[in-house]
Amino acid sequence: MNNGARTGNARRREWNASRAAMTTLAVASAIAATAAGVAASTRAATVAGRAASPIAATAAGGAASRQKFSPYVDARGSIRVPEDYRQWAFLGSWHIGPEMGVDDEAGVAGFHNVYTQRGTLEAFRETGGFPDGAVLVKELLKSEGGALTTGQVSWATDIEGWFVMVKDSQGRFPENPLWGGGWGWALFTSDDPGNTVSSNWRVDCLGCHTPAKDTDWVFVQGYPPLHGAGSR
Ligand code: HEC
Repeated sequence: MNNGARTGNARRREWNASRAAMTTLAVASAIAATAAGVAASTRAATVAGRAASPIAATAAGGAASRQKFSPYVDARGSIRVPEDYRQWAFLGSWHIGPEMGVDDEAGVAGFHNVYTQRGTLEAFRETGGFPDGAVLVKELLKSEGGALTTGQVSWATDIEGWFVMVKDSQGRFPENPLWGGGWGWALFTSDDPGNTVSSNWRVDCLGCHTPAKDTDWVFVQGYPPLHGAGSR
């Protein structure tokens, strides 16, 4: 069963190398991308909080404080990885090519699986935008490959880390550099889902997400359920 499996050390080197590369790339392109996607996010802002409302429902009366904005965001805007996101709606999987690092026997360097709350999926299908409080979790997974009865295949294994985005249509954290462009942005390593290792969305994220600027910074083409495919 270990055909094509790679050692944890090789994987860690790949992870470190790709993180370094990503940061460099992001710095280079951040300057060109300062015109944030305000237009795209205001559209989504009109569908206030369909996804967030069950969450915020515990906040009594009109006293929904900043703390109640999201269970995954504290009063200062620090983000953490939701514990239960694997029970959420699965949006799609990106297969990362071998040029991004060590590849397994089936030619895949890893998988990126993306999840969101069910309410966010429903709201997006109705309105075409992400509602306030929407959370996107992208988990980075190692892979193994080998011959199975379907042929040469590759499958996802351990989690290496997470990228998380939290939709904020109201600009709640103007002083916090993890927030901008209508979202909170954070990267986590697998050993610490409670504390981000990223510090500034413009430096760490914006450059690479610029191609998706017109779709509120999200690579929506990779998420068939958003577009109505498979309605069950
Ligand atoms: C090296 C370029 C790069 C950098 C740097 C980067 N991203 Fe991404 N991100 C992408 C691409 C490309 C996708 C979709 C395809 C994929 O995952 O390979 C994506 C997808 C995502 C997704 C899934 C939802 C979506 O937008 O499609 C999240 C969440 C995410 N990124 C968060 C972040 C955060 C937070 C940061 C900064 C801490 C960041 N990304 C930095 C390139 C990048």
